[in-house]
Amino acid sequence: MAGLFPDAMTTMRAADSLSATRLRPGTSLCSRVGTPKGRRQRVILCCHNHANPPPSRRDTLLAGVLAPCSCAVCRPRSRWYDDIFASLYSHSMDSYEETLAPRKQKLFANLQGAKDGATVLEVGVGPGPNLKYYSSKDHKAKVTGLDPNNGMGPYARATAESLGLSDFQFVDGYAEEMPFEDGAFDAAVGTLVMCSVEDPEAALSEVRRVLRPGGRYYFLEHVVGPPGSLLRAGQYVLSPLQQALADGCHLTRDTLASIRAAGFKDVDAERFDVEGLSLLAPHIAGVATV
Ligand SMILES: C[S@@+](CC[C@H](N)C(=O)[O-])C[C@H]1O[C@@H](n2cnc3c(N)ncnc32)[C@H](O)[C@@H]1O
Repeated sequence: MAGLFPDAMTTMRAADSLSATRLRPGTSLCSRVGTPKGRRQRVILCCHNHANPPPSRRDTLLAGVLAPCSCAVCRPRSRWYDDIFASLYSHSMDSYEETLAPRKQKLFANLQGAKDGATVLEVGVGPGPNLKYYSSKDHKAKVTGLDPNNGMGPYARATAESLGLSDFQFVDGYAEEMPFEDGAFDAAVGTLVMCSVEDPEAALSEVRRVLRPGGRYYFLEHVVGPPGSLLRAGQYVLSPLQQALADGCHLTRDTLASIRAAGFKDVDAERFDVEGLSLLAPHIAGVATV
């Protein structure tokens, strides 16, 4: 039988091991299944969606035979969409960055003074608009920029180079399943990213995991408007369009509630509106400590 249905057999074994152990967030069943290199992944079960209970043996067998895994981490990306989005995004944010500069300067003040060798992770680094806040004349942090859009890589690297941030690394990967050891970073940063990840709870759990004890997560995000407001209603109506046009960006995320629920020891945050941004106006910024 193993020869006839190799995928089904591997998937069943994976289901057995799943029911035997509760997987830690960030553990991928897909990689546990160990599909041989070069073969199409044929496993729909996936722990990237941590909200799902472990599937039954029968479901596992059927899914393994019938369908590939479709979670955000396993789904193939469109190279042309990524490249176009990266190019448009990196050329369209100047006025937003200018408006937010005083606030970012204040928020990232501690990072600018980061000791040489301090490790900073930026989740969803994009073209690197925040990198300038980590480099100073005297100190250069060791910065890792994580992003699943490889098209952002050249822009982020060019930004780092222009700032003299020689210890910058662009890593292709997802916030929901970071390819880093527990406690690997002194600080983490995320701006305009929790609107775009598929699973904010998993992403925030990963942020906590990769920060050392006492490490800090610096965030700035656009969020859903106040309950009952016309703005919020408009956000719900137009969020699907925004997701299609802006690489999965949701207008309706209550990211501050998600951060508060993520198990950080302390969350210090404020809400503010960015004038002229209409449905994207409501923002939050702050620091969460592990
Ligand atoms: C709106 S851009 C923000 C870029 C940058 N942080 C900024 O403030 O301009 C969102 C970024 O998050 C990245 N992203 C989307 N889904 C992600 C995920 N699951 N994990 C990590 N990054 C993600 C996108 O590729 C994109 O670069």
